[in-house]
This record gives sequence, C-alpha cells and structure tokens, in this order.
Amino acid sequence: MRLGTPLSPSATRVMLLGAGELGKEVAIALQRLGVEVIAVDRYADAPGHQVAHRAHVIDMSDGAALRALIEAEKPQLVVPEIEAIATETLLEIEAAGLAEVIPTARAANLTMNREGIRRLVAETLGLPTSPYVFADSLAAMSAAASQLGYPVIIKPVMSSSGKGQSWVDDASQLAAAWNAAASGGRVDKGRVIVEGVIDFDYEITLLTVRALGAAGTVETHFCEPVGHLQVKGDYVESWQPQAMSAAAQVRAQEIAAAVTANLGGRGVFGVELFVKGDTVWFSEVSPRPHDTGMVTMATQRQNEFELHARAILGLPVDTSLREPGASAVIYGGMDATGIAFDGVADAMRTPGVDLRLFGKPQAFVNRRMGVALAAAGDTNEARLHARAAAAAVKPVKD
Ligand SMILES: Nc1ncnc2c1ncn2[C@@H]1O[C@H](COP(=O)(O)OP(=O)(O)OP(=O)(O)O)[C@@H](O)[C@H]1O
Ligand SMILES: [Mg+2]
Repeated sequence: MRLGTPLSPSATRVMLLGAGELGKEVAIALQRLGVEVIAVDRYADAPGHQVAHRAHVIDMSDGAALRALIEAEKPQLVVPEIEAIATETLLEIEAAGLAEVIPTARAANLTMNREGIRRLVAETLGLPTSPYVFADSLAAMSAAASQLGYPVIIKPVMSSSGKGQSWVDDASQLAAAWNAAASGGRVDKGRVIVEGVIDFDYEITLLTVRALGAAGTVETHFCEPVGHLQVKGDYVESWQPQAMSAAAQVRAQEIAAAVTANLGGRGVFGVELFVKGDTVWFSEVSPRPHDTGMVTMATQRQNEFELHARAILGLPVDTSLREPGASAVIYGGMDATGIAFDGVADAMRTPGVDLRLFGKPQAFVNRRMGVALAAAGDTNEARLHARAAAAAVKPVKD
C-alpha cells in the first residue's frame, strides 16, 4: 500500500472502532507514519480521540449509524478495537468493497461472541479447549454443570474483561451466577457458556502477527510469550518473556498459527492459552492488540501497536524482544470525573520504569486509568518495579 499525506487527497485513512488505551497507542503508531486517523467511541474525549485527526461519538452496535459514518469518512481500513460492534454491518461493508476490515469482518464477527470462536476452534479445527456446554436457562446451566462436574466457570457469551463471570463450586451458587451473567453480559442476556476449569500452571498471551512478507504473501510471526495474572477475569499484571518448555512453546505456536490462519487477514492477534507442563489449551483470541500486551511498550523493538499499524498497512514487521519487562495496571480507585495523579515522579524514579496515563475523562474504582511499565534484567525484577511504580501513582480528586 502507498502511504499518503493526511488531510489531503492522497491520504491513507484508517478508522478505529474503539478509542480506548489500546486504540490510542494504535493511533499514535499510525500518526507516526503519516496516516489520517479517525477515532470512534461511544463517549466523548476517549483516549484515542485525543490523538486522532477526527473524533466521532456513536453507538457502534447501531449498524445504521456505523454504516453512515463509514460512508461519510471513506476510510480505506476499518480497525475494530473492541468487541461490541455491529459486526453484521462490517460483513456488509467488506462485501460491498467500501473498506477493508482488519483483520477480516468474519474474524470480528466470530470473536465478538464466545460461541462463534469456541465452536470454530474446538469443533471445526479440533484444537484443545476447556470442556464446555452452552446454556439458555438456569435449568440448562445447572444440567451442564452436573455434566461437566464442579467447579465450573460461567460466562455470558458476549462479555469481556471478566464482566458477568462466576466461579461456581457447587449447585447452591448457580442462581447467583445466572443473575451475574444476565446483568454483566453485553447484548444477549440469556445465553452463557459453562466451562470446566483447566488446572493450568500458567497462562499466556501469544501475540501473533500476520503481515506481508517480501514475496507479497502473508507470513505469521510470533512475539515472545507474555505471561499474565488475572483477578476476577481482568488482567492486573503481565510480563515478557514467560519461560516455557520448548515443547509447550512449539504447541502454543501451532495452535496460534492454526487459529489465526483460519481467521485470516493482516494484523496482531492476542491468542490466550493455558499451559500445564507441555500441554497447551486454547482459551480465546482477540483479532487485535491485547491488553496484556501493553508490556511490549517496554520490551520489544516494535511494540504490539506498532506491529499492528505496520501489518495492517502491508509493511514488514519485527517481533523481536529487546529486553525483559513487565506491566502493572493503575486503577481509578474512586468514582469521579477529571481526577489527577500524584506520585508520578516517584514512580518514574527507578531506571527502566515508564508510565502511560490514558487520559480517560471519568474514573471508576476498578477502571483501568493507566499502566506502569518496567524493563529490567529479568522478569522478576521487572515485575517488582512495575508493581512498585503502579502503587506509587495515587489517583486524587483534583
Ligand atoms: N476454563 C477455565 N479454566 C481456568 N481458568 C479460566 C477458564 N476460563 C477463564 N479462566 C480464567 O479467567 C480469565 C478470564 O477469562 P476469559 O479470558 O475467558 O474472559 P474475558 O472476560 O474474555 O477476559 P478478557 O476480556 O480480560 O480477556 C482467564 O484469563 C483465566 O485466568
Ligand atoms: Mg481473556
């Protein structure tokens, strides 16, 4: 692809659907290549809005509104950053040749619902996952849990960041889990996946990049594995590289290659995997940069956002690690708008430590407002530094 001059007839226009902290970094990477960036989110002054050429506020699950905006802005590339999008409209846009959807409209459509991606990976591709049953009622959910055996994990089919998820140890907890799924899910309030628990040693995100090679065909590249810690389904810490046995790493790459080849297109994929010894299970995949991959801003020659920008533009990529590192999440700690941050200088005093403050207009107690990054000689040291830096940053009412 030829790259143009923004705000001129030659412009290369990219529309980001979702302008949170991940979209913000993709926008910055695109801006550095002279791409015209159009950022879209459901609320004003989202992080990515603040670094784009134009910002729009629409309900992206409203297909008509989404189509009208794409027709008005005429981007060459449409890049989803979140799952809650009218993906049927993306399928139409792609079929009509109005814009290229990254990585593909089918990938966005399949991964917005746990059922689409799980059936593809487990049933069509035959890859290992946790045992699972889908259920549409409390009674069906209860039968599924008995069939799989306790404990089970219940998740709404449409949700992310752990919303509406419950760990269920016995039948007495089923009704509460059903209600949590109904209130925490995104759209379909009556369908859940019941999953058997995988007793893993550790879990990773394998950042996998599909990018054009010199021959003009798509090649698959892998980053070093990112290890992470999840609390209530939400990531709190990540580090890279996660040490793995050679056999587990080969298996992880085989699974990631098979899933991403099926989804197709170009760009970064965050393939979430569970690992026990040399055994690897697929958990889920984001057809876009992954929150746990923010650590790559401290560790890689090209971070996951730069890799995404380059891959979607048809440019070559380099997934190599520069040095070990870690990330730790900074939460809002309060419900308030326009908060401020004390302790930033203290947090940054340690060599190798850096921060990203996302600029979200509104804080919630458990909302991710920033991330501490640390590069160090090894991941243990980096994790200590990242955690200490995140703890040093104090959200305050301004
Ligand atoms: N079947 C399972 N066995 C063991 N642990 C699980 C299982 N399913 C989920 N978990 C744990 O819960 C975490 C969140 O699950 P999952 O990734 O499915 O949810 P999510 O809401 O899509 O999260 P996110 O959007 O943050 O990736 C996993 O990273 C893992 O730690
Ligand atoms: Mg996940």
